[in-house]
Amino acid sequence: MFEHIEAYPGDPILSLNEDFAKDPREGKVNLSIGIYYDEAGRLPVMSAVREAEAHVMSMPAAKPYLPMSGLASYRDAVQSLVFGEDSPARAEGRIATLQTLGGSGALKVGADFIRRYFPGSQVWVSDPTWDNHRFIFERAGFVVGTYPYYDEATGGLRFDSMLAEIRDLPAKSVVLLHACCHNPTGVDLSDAQWAELIGVMKQRDLLPFIDMAYQGFGAGLDADAFAIRELVRQNVPALVANSFSKNFSLYGERCGALSVICESAQAAARVLGQLTSAVRANYSNPPTHGARIVAHVLTTPALRKSWEDELASMCRRIARMRGEIHARLRGNVPDAMLARYLAQRGMFTYTGLSATQVDALREQHGVYLIRSGRMCVAALNEGNVDATAAAIAEVLAAVAV
Ligand code: LMR
Repeated sequence: MFEHIEAYPGDPILSLNEDFAKDPREGKVNLSIGIYYDEAGRLPVMSAVREAEAHVMSMPAAKPYLPMSGLASYRDAVQSLVFGEDSPARAEGRIATLQTLGGSGALKVGADFIRRYFPGSQVWVSDPTWDNHRFIFERAGFVVGTYPYYDEATGGLRFDSMLAEIRDLPAKSVVLLHACCHNPTGVDLSDAQWAELIGVMKQRDLLPFIDMAYQGFGAGLDADAFAIRELVRQNVPALVANSFSKNFSLYGERCGALSVICESAQAAARVLGQLTSAVRANYSNPPTHGARIVAHVLTTPALRKSWEDELASMCRRIARMRGEIHARLRGNVPDAMLARYLAQRGMFTYTGLSATQVDALREQHGVYLIRSGRMCVAALNEGNVDATAAAIAEVLAAVAV
């Protein structure tokens, strides 16, 4: 029956993370997966999360199925965080928001919904993008193309080429964009570039699908959501996936959400209904525990403040580590490659190291990066930055691209 099943080659991120766990070498360094580790190399339990979890556990409740759309208090708190408490679209009731299994679940539910109602549309992702984007949309039945994004020569954005390509897409094309802290490059659009791009998407009748997995890791919680607020301001229908894996350090609880900005409250009600039908067809309804924690933190002023403060201090630590590795690589790495450690934002730097060089880093030094050259700078600390910088310098000197 199953003899014809071919072997799974593995996932470029998750399988590498599993390989790291099996690596017996002492002093190995995991800069592969997008996870924030603290100065001691531990996965933090945020103080507000700890308190909220204690609160949730102190009130043991029966565990019925949640509604297919998820926990109502969570959905409302998500909408307020992502769109702003005073968002006019929120007041008009024209955003459909539902709880999903992490950001990936939001992308999958959104993909199923679009596939059903826009069957002629293609999906366009940035070149490069998070590996799982293409996978999710192709598995949902889409043809996936790319638009220009990253400029390898400068370590920056090819905005003019990106805009020109998107301007030429057929109407109703789905354009997948990263709200902030672009994964894998750490290169984002400026506010002015967002405003211009959104104007073009509106004019060309395109459907933006924004993925916001790193809210709070760029310029701040509100600033990172600029693109989403601008979509509302310019009155552009769109889908928005968001995740609390990173900014709540709640990876395993799979807390995410999908929101759809509609033209009217009536359309939003119908869209929400069809999104819940996609949930039913995939996994029926989402789990309770993580959603109760997130909702409690976001709606309790003291916990909310504690969470925001701790998130800000995580960002400061990442910025410090960017400076530390930059200082250690100076003189050993060409200037053009060096500048991006400081210029790129969020958890990642796109180092410019080739797959061969990344393989050498892993095999010879136990330093793990994604083979695209993506480094998770959020996992650097005082204890591993020297070894990482020395390994990179050695590999650059010895291993051709
Ligand atoms: C990453 O990009 O490393 C994270 O988002 C984890 C994942 O699921 O790929």
